[in-house]
Parts: sequence; structure tokens; C-alpha cells
Amino acid sequence: MNASSVFSMLVSPEQEERTHRRPKHPSSRPHALHLRLLLLAVLMAALMVAIASFFRGSAHINTLKFDIDSSENSSKFLVKGKPAPPQFPFPSSFSSADAAPPPSITKTIANKVDIELGPYHNWQLFALDFQEMMRSFKIYVYPDAFMNQSHSKSSPFSPIFLPHPDPFHTGLGNYFSEHMFKVALLRSSLITRHPEEAHLFFLPFSINLLRNDPRVYSEASISEFVTQYTTRVRRDFKFWNASAGADHFYVYCHSVGREAASKLHDLYNNAIQVTCSSSYFQRYYVSHKDVGLPQVWPRPHEKALTPPDARHKLVYFSGRIQNSRIRQELIALWGNDSYVDVFSGSPPFSYEEGFRRSKYCLHVKGYEVNTARVSDAIHYGCIPVIISNYYELPFANVLDWSKFSVIINQREIALTKNKLLSITTPKYLNMFRNLCQVRKHFCWNKTPRGFDSFHMTAYQLWLRRNINRPFR
Ligand SMILES: *[C@@H]1O[C@H](CO)[C@@H](O)[C@H](O)[C@H]1NC(C)=O
Ligand SMILES: *[C@@H]1O[C@H](CO)[C@@H](O)[C@H](O)[C@H]1NC(C)=O
Ligand SMILES: *[C@@H]1O[C@H](CO)[C@@H](O)[C@H](O)[C@H]1NC(C)=O
Ligand SMILES: *[C@@H]1O[C@H](CO)[C@@H](O)[C@H](O)[C@H]1NC(C)=O
Repeated sequence: MNASSVFSMLVSPEQEERTHRRPKHPSSRPHALHLRLLLLAVLMAALMVAIASFFRGSAHINTLKFDIDSSENSSKFLVKGKPAPPQFPFPSSFSSADAAPPPSITKTIANKVDIELGPYHNWQLFALDFQEMMRSFKIYVYPDAFMNQSHSKSSPFSPIFLPHPDPFHTGLGNYFSEHMFKVALLRSSLITRHPEEAHLFFLPFSINLLRNDPRVYSEASISEFVTQYTTRVRRDFKFWNASAGADHFYVYCHSVGREAASKLHDLYNNAIQVTCSSSYFQRYYVSHKDVGLPQVWPRPHEKALTPPDARHKLVYFSGRIQNSRIRQELIALWGNDSYVDVFSGSPPFSYEEGFRRSKYCLHVKGYEVNTARVSDAIHYGCIPVIISNYYELPFANVLDWSKFSVIINQREIALTKNKLLSITTPKYLNMFRNLCQVRKHFCWNKTPRGFDSFHMTAYQLWLRRNINRPFR
């Protein structure tokens, strides 16, 4: 890749035209301007080559091209008569040093990511900012997360705040993500003991454990508990009042948590809620402020995925249908269709087998918008079909879900089979490849690593940092 071709990709034809036309302006001094423009061009080209050299493999440069092409094309959607929006030049302060991810990540990118049709909105931007997060993000955890019952300052509720001793315990399945977030956070490099340098503060109560504690249990008591705890944090530490809680967050995957913040204005209005039940229509879920957490069922690593051509069933779904009108509709439509594996309750084979032998796996809204089926499907290499209106899908500002899943409006459930049959094999294979790439984002590790669920969720928090708090 030579310098001028890299440069030309960054300049749209329109911009190029302007660049060349400008020296002809009568009042300008053509030679000096030409010289300056040439110098600028050479500098920018050199800069781009420097950046490009960090991204071995031309795939990355191609994305750049792809992004710019599509923005050119989008100009046809502009209102007629209005000039095209200005193309902003690269900021001059953007040095190649800033742009360079460490070599390990660069290698991962070059080897594994097929960028053109890949699953990311913009892998390069994300990877750079992710690197910056890994370098600088600091989270402070309130001390309750470290105090067991033998600690003098611990409360009788200390287990509520501690990391779960056995997050893989069967029975925690649906709430695995809630526990793994805390386990991983406490072992991560993002944690700090110095609250003054923290970007964000973690309130370590577990909604799932509050639900299981007979002293608390009910939704009203959980809300009361969370209110009292937060009030204590506000009284005993100076950090809450500095931003009225805007740099504080809490994490849960049990839907009873959705009203937990409801009794404290600053908590529901300002603090960041990280939740599996991320629905645009949930009363206390605020899109942009709050964060969708992937609901992941703990599963052993699946060594080899069934390849697409060995998936002989079109569709798989199994689950309880009592509390979901859409699921009932689904069974009524295809319950007897031998090409489609749709079961009310358990299938006649193992639940996992359904994911292995099907091309598409349905996630159909139940009582909540979310279930673990989305990440189950991803885990087993089955393309998720998401029939759950208003579900804010996890990491949707990083991942382009349309590249590895099919999203269908609940009202159009009757069209599902035809829609899936109309997906061409090349398109399916591309979705399958993308699915393989995003699998790592839906895995939790006790000690977080790479682009796993913990770091992906932390990245969402990172995007919500930078709270101004001069009054602390
Ligand atoms: C832009 O539009 C042209 C013509 O309509 C098309 O051939 C090309 O593929 C489009 N490019 C992108 C990136 O959408
Ligand atoms: C409780 O905490 C103390 C000191 O903080 C530690 O020595 C002890 O091992 C902990 N016990 C458990 C069960 O974690
Ligand atoms: C923070 O503000 C609340 C309510 O105004 C107050 O009760 C509390 O004492 C303040 N906390 C600190 C540490 O000053
Ligand atoms: C499916 O088959 C069962 C038993 O044969 C029958 O009762 C039911 O009405 C059928 N459902 C549909 C949607 O055809």
C-alpha cells in the first residue's frame, strides 16, 4: 500500500476537487499555496502510512475506504438544495502514537477480523478507544465488597456485597452475569484503591442475593435496602454528592432489580444502571445513561461448532409459553411443522442439541425482553433471531447486530419463516463468520481478559465517564 493511495482514500473526490480548485482563486498566490498544500498532503500521507503500519493487513485500510464510501453515498439522502456537510479533516493533534494499539491486539485484528462485512460498526475506532480504556480507566469499589463477617465494620448483610464464592453454582444460571461482573471487576486491572483518581464508583450490592435473602426478598424491601445503602454511601463518603451520583453505577441481571432505584431520585435519575433487562419501555431504564448487560448462561467451552452445512433444521425454539402471547403464537404457527423445531416446554432431545443442529435460533420475548437464549445461540453458533420489541441489545453501539442476527418485529412473527428462507447462503455464511467473531464478547472470565463480557461492559461504562465534579 503506497502513501498516495492511502491518502486518496481519506479524501473524498469532492474534497479533492475543492483542494485543487482553491489555488486558482484570483487573490491567492498559486505557487506558495500549491507548495503548502503539497506539504500538507505529504504530511498527511506520512501520518496515514504511520497509522496504517500499525494495522498489518490491508483489511483495515479497506474499512476506512468502506466507511468513507458509504458516507458519500448517504449524501443522496440530504434534502435537495442544501450543501453537503463539510468533511472534517483529521485533527492535527492525532498522532500515530495515540492511534497505535499494542502489538498483541493488532495481531488479533489482522488475523481474525474480516472487516468489510464484519460485525462492528467501526472496529478501528472501537479498538483504539478500548486500548485507551485499558490504559486509563479507573473504577473505585466501595469497601463493603471486601468486608466479610469477620471484619469489624461489616454489616449483617455482608454477603450481599461480597463477590459470589461460586458464581458457576447451578441455580444462579440466569443471574450469572450479575455475579461474574463483580468477580471479574475485583480481579481486573481497572480497579483502584484511590477514589480520587476514579472515573466511576461501583455500588456492590447484589439484587439476586437480596432476592434470595428471606430478610429482604420482596421488591419493596429490595428497594428499601438499596435506598438505605445508597443513603449511607452518600453520608459517609464525599463522592456521591460531588455529582449527585452521576459517576456511580450498579449491576444486576435479576429483573426484580428494575424498581430498586425507584425510591431515590439521584439513584434512578443520575446513577448508571447496568442491567440485563434493558428495555426502552422499562420505567426506570434510561437509554444512553443505562447499560444493557448480556444475559449469559454459564456453559463449558464449546470446542467445535457445528458447521453451517451440518445444521439441518431451519429454526429452533424451546421454552415456556405461558407468560408470553408471542410464544403462544409461535407454537400455533409452527408447532406441527417438521422443518422447524419449535417446542412448548422441553424438546424431545437436549436443549443444547437444538442450538447445535439448527441454522437459526429464536429468542422470543417472555415476561422480560431478555433471556439467556441470545447468548446461548451465539455460544452454539446458531444465528439468533430476535423477536422482542424494544430490547436494547447489549453493546449495540459497538456491534452491528444486523451482521450476525435477524431482528423481527413482534407484529411480523407470521413472516418469520419466509424471511429466514429468503436469506441467501452467502449472506448466511457471512453472518455465521461474524457470529464466530462476536462469541468472545459473550463469555465471562473470573479474571477478565481480551474483549470478554467484562471488558465489553466496562467499555460501555468508559463511554459514560467524564463527569464534571469540581465541588467534591
Ligand atoms: C454507492 O453507490 C453506488 C451507486 O449507487 C454503489 O455502486 C456503491 O456500491 C455504493 N457504495 C456503498 C459503500 O454503499
Ligand atoms: C475474611 O476477612 C479476613 C480479613 O479481612 C480474612 O483474613 C479471612 O480469610 C476472610 N474470610 C473469608 C471466609 O473470606
Ligand atoms: C450529601 O448530601 C446529603 C443530602 O444533602 C447530606 O445528608 C449528606 O450529609 C451529604 N454528604 C456529605 C458527605 O457531606
Ligand atoms: C397440531 O397437531 C395437533 C395434534 O395432531 C392438533 O391438535 C393441533 O391443532 C395442530 N396444530 C396446528 C397449528 O395445526
